[in-house]
Amino acid sequence: MRGKHIIVAVSAGIAAYKAIEVVSRLRKKGAEVKVVMTRNATNIASPLTFGEISGHPVALDMFEQVHQWDVEHIALATWADAYVVVPATANVIGKIYAGIADDMLTTTIMATTAPKYICPAMNTEMYNNPITQRNLEGLRSLGYHIMEPAEGWLACGVTGVGRLPEPVAIVEWLEAQLCKTSELEGITVLVTAGGTQENIDPVRYIGNRSSGKMGYAIAEQAVRMGANVILVSAPTSLSVPSGVEFVPVDSALSMQEAVESRYKNVDVVVMAAAVSDFRVLHKAEQKIKKMESMTLELVKNPDILQGLGSHKEHQILVGFAAETEHVIKYGQDKVARKNLDMLVANDVSKSNAGFNVDTNEGYFLYPDKEPKEMANMKKSELAQYIMKEVVELVANKHL
Ligand code: C5P
Repeated sequence: MRGKHIIVAVSAGIAAYKAIEVVSRLRKKGAEVKVVMTRNATNIASPLTFGEISGHPVALDMFEQVHQWDVEHIALATWADAYVVVPATANVIGKIYAGIADDMLTTTIMATTAPKYICPAMNTEMYNNPITQRNLEGLRSLGYHIMEPAEGWLACGVTGVGRLPEPVAIVEWLEAQLCKTSELEGITVLVTAGGTQENIDPVRYIGNRSSGKMGYAIAEQAVRMGANVILVSAPTSLSVPSGVEFVPVDSALSMQEAVESRYKNVDVVVMAAAVSDFRVLHKAEQKIKKMESMTLELVKNPDILQGLGSHKEHQILVGFAAETEHVIKYGQDKVARKNLDMLVANDVSKSNAGFNVDTNEGYFLYPDKEPKEMANMKKSELAQYIMKEVVELVANKHL
């Protein structure tokens, strides 16, 4: 989002306070943000706060003293790379679709040619009202991007659709669309993520410390590059990235089934999941009672990636390896044994790489090229480097 000019336009939904966090998150991602508010919205959230958080004066009135010599609504409209209405009330949605431009928000959105994003938030009945639905449909047909409201408890005391999604989800939705390129258009990328869980009994399992962050970051990056993305995920605490086909799994065997059944129609597989090497031989049907000691017999799980490598056709295979010593040597053995096109090898003995942290470092290894060393960086940044390599591999294979 670095350097992007974004207008956040706030109308008088009770969720207007959430727009403060949207502005803050956009700025943290490097965007420059200017805020426009309707008069009514100022009764719900303070323009002072928006001014402080955005670092720019808030545009409110058409006829107040101008901050600069350009006509302000036109200056704002041409400055914007994207225009986001958050929250968008039924009233504002209706006015925009009807072409009414009677305040700063409705005038600037009409005057801008930047892509427009609408985040509706209102009472369920108002949202389901055919008039609102017609207006949203109309805006959609004119190229406006409409975010689906969330379901949940609404300020009016009922539970239903119409809730403004959480700021983190709004920013993710914007990022997925604003930063989209076409490098992987037409390419299907399957990403696995998270740590598999092997049941012991109905309430216990054997798991690992994988957070899923690396795989989710790769899936998000692949969406940004225009790929069709299938995210096969073991349980994590992360929210599903927008724009992916999400396939939840739990054990190694269920992950294998999900991956193998889709393999034929997939161009790239990135196996970022931490797959359990073993599973419990005899799972208990009922919860196991306390006892002085017990022995679990484990059997080897299939190596999903090695299986894919053994019947690879057009696919590009990217694996991960968590090592504590001889990272390059052990990694290169894995590239050969699993028939990979690339391996991301991490030294997990370091506290700032690998499992359950936000950063990673290591080497990119290939069957036919020198290793590339990757410095310590955020997983989201490393995901960009990994997917850039994938773009090159796709180009070389003429997929
Ligand atoms: O051999 P090792 O477990 O170190 O290899 C790690 C890579 O293999 C990762 O990409 C992981 O997702 C994959 N893997 C797998 N099935 C297993 C174990 C690991 O696909 N049973």
